[in-house]
Amino acid sequence: MKQHNIVLLPGDGIGPEITAVTRSLLESAGHKFGFQLNIEEHIIGGSAIKSTGSPLPNTTLEACRQSDGVLLAAIGSPEFDSLPREQRPESGLLSLRSGLDLFANIRPVKINPALIHTSSLKPEVISGVDLMVVRELTGGIYFGNPKGRVKTIDGERAFNTMTYSTTEIERIAKVAFELAMDRRQKICSVDKANVLDVSQLWREQIDAISQQYPDIEISHLYVDNAAMQLVREPKQFDVILTGNLFGDILSDEAAMLTGSIGMLPSASLSTDGPGLFEPVHGSAPDIAGLNKANPIAMVLSAAMLLKIGLKEHQAAEALEIAVAKVLDQGFRTSDLMDKSLTPLTCSEMGDQLLKAL
Ligand code: IPM
Ligand code: MG
Repeated sequence: MKQHNIVLLPGDGIGPEITAVTRSLLESAGHKFGFQLNIEEHIIGGSAIKSTGSPLPNTTLEACRQSDGVLLAAIGSPEFDSLPREQRPESGLLSLRSGLDLFANIRPVKINPALIHTSSLKPEVISGVDLMVVRELTGGIYFGNPKGRVKTIDGERAFNTMTYSTTEIERIAKVAFELAMDRRQKICSVDKANVLDVSQLWREQIDAISQQYPDIEISHLYVDNAAMQLVREPKQFDVILTGNLFGDILSDEAAMLTGSIGMLPSASLSTDGPGLFEPVHGSAPDIAGLNKANPIAMVLSAAMLLKIGLKEHQAAEALEIAVAKVLDQGFRTSDLMDKSLTPLTCSEMGDQLLKAL
């Protein structure tokens, strides 16, 4: 039987609850489609800070490096808000991204017809939306130097650096161009080239690379306009290509088109190492431990792991179909409620998904 070695990172907040649901679905998909998953769970984020003092212990990073794919639930807890930045849970995630060289973050946004009335936008605006945010993930202002805080005569000053090299722009652009070839062949690159030097270079480099892809229609938007267009007419977008910070912001905005941020999966990929698959949402500390969380974004992230990471296409599709079926049948967690339905708990949603699979 085929074997795949998976690292599962439950992390913080609602992480363990949605992980439990996803783990049993993955195992059941393995039985059904004839492969074995060897799953190791490791600590990261706040839970790792508590037991080891570090948000990304070396054992966790090494296990991820040795695996065929990593599935992460969520990271972050208000408990650690007052810690210096590099000791916070989120730093564990950033170190994992850079430690595995996961420069390409792919966030597909597709509207499920059953949820068309759940979005805060009008049904005619969102119906048929099928776009993908391709976000550069290991550069830009998240990682640029110099950064820090210094005391000044009259107080304190803090700074970060937004930086991209032509090489960094080129490798993320190529991912976007290749993905667009299999889609509607349209890329909108998002920057702030009217103000930032780094964006000017970004735009020039994207234009240069687009010469190699004559079939792709390339356009550019400033990030403020892109944010507006995303809610005004989201159907105009196929692939949105952007840097780390703008991608962070625009992908949360795009998530809301689907009705809830609890629906959106993502994949973070390197050139040849294991990928990291994680929901776009955070750890939702306000509902942690209450069995209320929506596990679907993590389940769909597991489907991306199966498809992109393990090449188990049938199993991936079966998971996606199970999600669609359960939503079609009217099952909802509380983030997706409309008045006519009673909300399911996280584990009840898991049971329905298992049944549908
Ligand atoms: C995301 C998250 C992270 C980010 C946080 C948790 C560091 O918001 O994956 O979008 O900013 O990249
Ligand atoms: Mg984010």
